[in-house]
Amino acid sequence: MSEPAVIRSTQGEIGVLTVNNPPVNALSAAVRTGLDEGVKAFGADPAIKAIVLIGGGRTFIAGADIREFGKPRAGTDLNEVIRIMETSPKIIVAALHGTPLGGGLETALGAHYRISAPTTRLGLPEVHLGLLPGAGGTQRLPRLTGAAYALEAMVSGRHIPAKEAASKGIVDRIAEGDLLQSAVAYARELVAQKAPLKRVRDQQVKLESPTAIADFERSIARKARGFKAPWHIVKTVQAAVELPFDQGLARERELFQELLTSSESAAQRFYFFAEREAAKVKDVPSDTPQREIKTAGIIGAGTMGGGIAMNFANAGIPVTVLEVKQDALDRGLKTIRTNYENTAKRGGMKAEDVEKRMALIKPTMDYNDLKDADVIIEAVFETMEVKEGVFKKLDEVAKPGAILATNTSGLDVNQIASYTKRPGDVIGMHFFSPANVMKLLENVRGKATSKDVIASVMTLSKRIGKIPTLVGVCEGFVGNRMLRQRGVQSAYMLEEGALPQQIDKVIFDFGFPMGPFQMSDLAGNDVGWRIRQGKKEKEQRNVRYTGYVADAICELGRFGQKTGSGYYKYNLPDRTPIPDPEVEKIIEENSKRLGITRRAISDQEILERTLYPMVNEGAKILEEGMAQRALDIDVIWVNGYGWPVYRGGPMWWADNVVGLKTIHDALLKYKEMSGDPFWEPAPLLKRLVAEGKKFSDV
Ligand code: 3HC
Ligand code: NAI
Repeated sequence: MSEPAVIRSTQGEIGVLTVNNPPVNALSAAVRTGLDEGVKAFGADPAIKAIVLIGGGRTFIAGADIREFGKPRAGTDLNEVIRIMETSPKIIVAALHGTPLGGGLETALGAHYRISAPTTRLGLPEVHLGLLPGAGGTQRLPRLTGAAYALEAMVSGRHIPAKEAASKGIVDRIAEGDLLQSAVAYARELVAQKAPLKRVRDQQVKLESPTAIADFERSIARKARGFKAPWHIVKTVQAAVELPFDQGLARERELFQELLTSSESAAQRFYFFAEREAAKVKDVPSDTPQREIKTAGIIGAGTMGGGIAMNFANAGIPVTVLEVKQDALDRGLKTIRTNYENTAKRGGMKAEDVEKRMALIKPTMDYNDLKDADVIIEAVFETMEVKEGVFKKLDEVAKPGAILATNTSGLDVNQIASYTKRPGDVIGMHFFSPANVMKLLENVRGKATSKDVIASVMTLSKRIGKIPTLVGVCEGFVGNRMLRQRGVQSAYMLEEGALPQQIDKVIFDFGFPMGPFQMSDLAGNDVGWRIRQGKKEKEQRNVRYTGYVADAICELGRFGQKTGSGYYKYNLPDRTPIPDPEVEKIIEENSKRLGITRRAISDQEILERTLYPMVNEGAKILEEGMAQRALDIDVIWVNGYGWPVYRGGPMWWADNVVGLKTIHDALLKYKEMSGDPFWEPAPLLKRLVAEGKKFSDV
């Protein structure tokens, strides 16, 4: 017979309830019912004087079972379990280790006392699922910590270290040594002292200042834009301050239910699992043997190489950085040091850690210093000739079994691999800029890349703090390939009647941090200009040129923020974009020259023409197998390009918010309007619409 979800045992007069639901002891129906029955049984047993509640395995309860949301409810309701605990006649001590999160911490707040292992990190992260703590957390946490602290904790959803939790009264004691034994000893001590049944609900909420809640609400305006949950959390804390406990709890329930059925939460819950799924490779089983990575090498200490090196140093992995020129090497190392020092100045790390990290980064100009590296990542100039030289050299010096990775953003990884006699060891690791900050990694699988290299790189990605995805070799890989579609239509709409500020506003209002023209001004308009010239795009007669306005802007030296003007003007050092009548003139003259009569373009048209082509390209990517699943594309867009997570990702949004048929029909409408084959729906999109299916069914 399988073990129960809550195991009952005794240590003398102490009853022990051990939650047994690996891997994270989520509060499934069986766990909730087990707690209900266990607390009642010990409560009624005269031989038991107090109860210890603990998690088996790696953690205390890490929250509600997210997979159960939206399904018919079974078992005892969590709020009822907590009520039963709180009103138990026996003292309950919650013993916390690992990550007591969400409903897990809320359960612990229903206990009379809490003891924690020193390494525990606890919190109420429901906000990341588009939810609020729905089992009394919004009412109990402010009673322990004060309203403003609780607001910050719940709206950030951060994991709070045990020491801080103790200083705020969330836990009563930090355990020394074995947690269970410490908890049992604590329970005995409480019984001996005839300690009261301390109930959080009986405490008064402390409001740090009369304007604490309003101040907090103002402080999140920018960060919480577009999200629902943070604002609802504020309402629940307001209720905690103003209403008696039970009424506050009812308000929490009402707001929780509203979020639970919202599209925002559905998107964010989808995303929680998508991110975890994206790390898995369909044809590479999780037990694939992996290569051990103890040291790393980076070629090139420029913008990307420096950032990549920092990721390794941050993870405690020694890394050797190679450049061909001393001054480039010195500059690269200096930038890394400055980055660390700035973080330390802002309080993000300790001053002594700057030296510790720097000590892990070894500069060199000698390829022999890479002979022991387990993984070597190339981040040199983006030309095939330079990459060829580097990979031929690496093939000579790298030890057998070393993983050879390229950070190319556009070159053919298969061709790069062909410069070595070990293409199976070659893979793309496409970091995003700034590489020490951006979480996304598009790992690029070449046709020869071996499975153990893929498995090792996916694991390594997580070790260096990244969110890995796996993509195939194609122009722009997944993210940039889709971004290009948005750029094409944005450029055409400038010619047809829109202005940069209108297009940017639509994209911003959709939830992106900024629109395409602000982004271009930030990244430098000259980058695209050079690429267009290099590819001789203007001379290609078979496609409508996208660069007329962009070229005119660049020809005036308006490269963006760095030159103080681009699609906007800037009063540097203030980087606020200011719409510029000069640009308007350039755009209008351009339309005239092209013989285009400008017309009013609606916001809806802008939205459709920028986002639907991305979805269409996503369909092609999926069909070609360049992404494993639709969800991988979503993870890429949320992490690499600022797609608002409360809209899931482009493919989830297409599937669940807009509907594939709507997109398909709109593509055909624009095709008819423009006569441009650009708008042809992807075969996969056509097929799914005909079959009434979604991208998630592929
Ligand atoms: N429900 C269901 N499954 C969960 C889960 C949960 N709450 N938390 C984690 N899992 C699953 C993961 O999907 C993963 O499954 P897989 O192995 O099949 O991919 C497995 O457990 C292990 O999770 P991780 O890979 O994330 O393991 P880590 O060790 O890296 O992290 C963790 C552990 C910190 C607990 C992390 O999983 C996490 O943050 N979980 C979510 C915690 C959370 O949000 N809790 C609040 C839930 S909402 C709630 O409680 C509502 C309440 O207020 C009423
Ligand atoms: P960069 O110009 O800032 O840095 C390149 C560095 O490589 C320079 O310091 C240069 O001295 C060095 N270098 C050139 N040839 C070398 C050689 N043969 N051996 C050793 N070092 C050499 O360029 P950046 O932006 O860091 O780009 C590097 C790579 O990363 C490119 O392939 C680029 O496409 C890719 N990439 C760039 C992104 C970005 O936003 N900058 C984003 C993702 C990928």
